Amino acid sequence: MSVLIKNGRVITSDSDCIADVLIEGKTIAKVGESLECSDAEVIDATGKYVLPGFIDPHVHIHLPFMGTNAIDDHASATKAALAGGTTTLIEMICPGPDDEPKAAFEEWKALAEAGACCDFSFHLSVVRFDEIAKQQVRDLVENEGVASFKVFLAYKGALDIADEQLFELMEIAKELGVIITAHCENAEAVDAMQKRFIAEGKTGPQWHEPSRPRCVETDGVSHLCAFAELTGAHVYIVHTSCQSAVEQAMKARDRGVNVCVEAVAPHLVLDKTYAERLDFEGAKYVMSPPLRDAQEHEYLWNALANGQMLTIGTDHAPFNFSGQKDMGRDAFTLIPNGIPGVQERVDLVHTYGVCMGRITLQDMVATCSTNAAKIFGMYPRKGEIAVGSDADLVIYDPTYEGVFTQDQSESQVDYNGYEGMPRKGRPMIVLRGGEIVARDGRYVGLGGGGHYIPRNPTH
Ligand code: URP
Ligand code: ZN
Ligand code: ZN
Repeated sequence: MSVLIKNGRVITSDSDCIADVLIEGKTIAKVGESLECSDAEVIDATGKYVLPGFIDPHVHIHLPFMGTNAIDDHASATKAALAGGTTTLIEMICPGPDDEPKAAFEEWKALAEAGACCDFSFHLSVVRFDEIAKQQVRDLVENEGVASFKVFLAYKGALDIADEQLFELMEIAKELGVIITAHCENAEAVDAMQKRFIAEGKTGPQWHEPSRPRCVETDGVSHLCAFAELTGAHVYIVHTSCQSAVEQAMKARDRGVNVCVEAVAPHLVLDKTYAERLDFEGAKYVMSPPLRDAQEHEYLWNALANGQMLTIGTDHAPFNFSGQKDMGRDAFTLIPNGIPGVQERVDLVHTYGVCMGRITLQDMVATCSTNAAKIFGMYPRKGEIAVGSDADLVIYDPTYEGVFTQDQSESQVDYNGYEGMPRKGRPMIVLRGGEIVARDGRYVGLGGGGHYIPRNPTH
């Protein structure tokens, strides 16, 4: 089966021109002017952008966390991803402290293979780190295509990793040439602040941000970067929310530390006043690191434009308001952390980044697709429009105008974190491996069809 996309504005991270794209089977066969193919299905992309399929480097789907389980399954989350133009996602495998890494990998992979509609890969969280786990980490890199691990410097007693273990894991990562992705917040400081606020009767969601202020995150970044400096490991700081944390990472980069910094959509467009909303509505906006002052937005967009921050993920973490977020009505410390958004990311970046002149279209492609492909070893198969790349493409209508609403969402979560916010732009057609799987912001595929993307070490 061939598909010919005609007359679109083909935008990659380093080029922008009117061209045609010919797809044969699952791959891109030609990119050029005035292409012809008599038996191809022709898509007229006049007036539209043709973009590489987007990659979300930070997604939670199967997530046992804070006494509950995230509400999406791989079918719903990946339909949402595709509806929003994301054709590949990297999910965080988050096992508990007693779980073996290999068993966790197999559990997550089996769930994804049964349900995923878009392509997927994994960052494997290292929570347990005994001799068995160390051997399994090596085995997963050598035999299963795992090329990035995740550590939590936060969530004391649940997911955090001791310094001794972190250091050894980073030495192993350096030896194997794989990346350590990290949630950077000082777990002890958060724990102490939470206890202080609860004892003072400060129990509402508005106290979540003050319990883990910017200095707590900046300290986490400093800590990780010190260990990266000592071990030589390549580190990737997830969901970085504020100027001081980015600056801390840049200081380390200036010292020669191999550090990449990720932004996530909530920190770019929402702010801490959302978590202060009355009647416990603020619980919908409790995530970690927390939403900050709106003044941080400009700094983060600028850091994306100037290459200090390299990627934009979602940190999609779908917990229902009813029955899950409201477990924390009496204490904000019990509100499951996270905001959904795997479907909204690209349109948010287009609306609040590109249309507001904060980043260019090429920056959007780089930060939402190409850079993640390069950092995580999927390039040029993913994140590019070139002969031989997977035919994962988004034909994007920049003129669409509307608002984000829950009823447009393919996710199963019972609210939309961006409800009512104006939007400009929408994927008109999304192709995954040459097959049309979404139209006008809705999933139209037949279900399934997503594949595991094994990755090689990148260093
Ligand atoms: O609040 C968040 N970010 N929830 C998901 C888990 C994590 O820390 O990434
Ligand atoms: Zn995190
Ligand atoms: Zn996360």
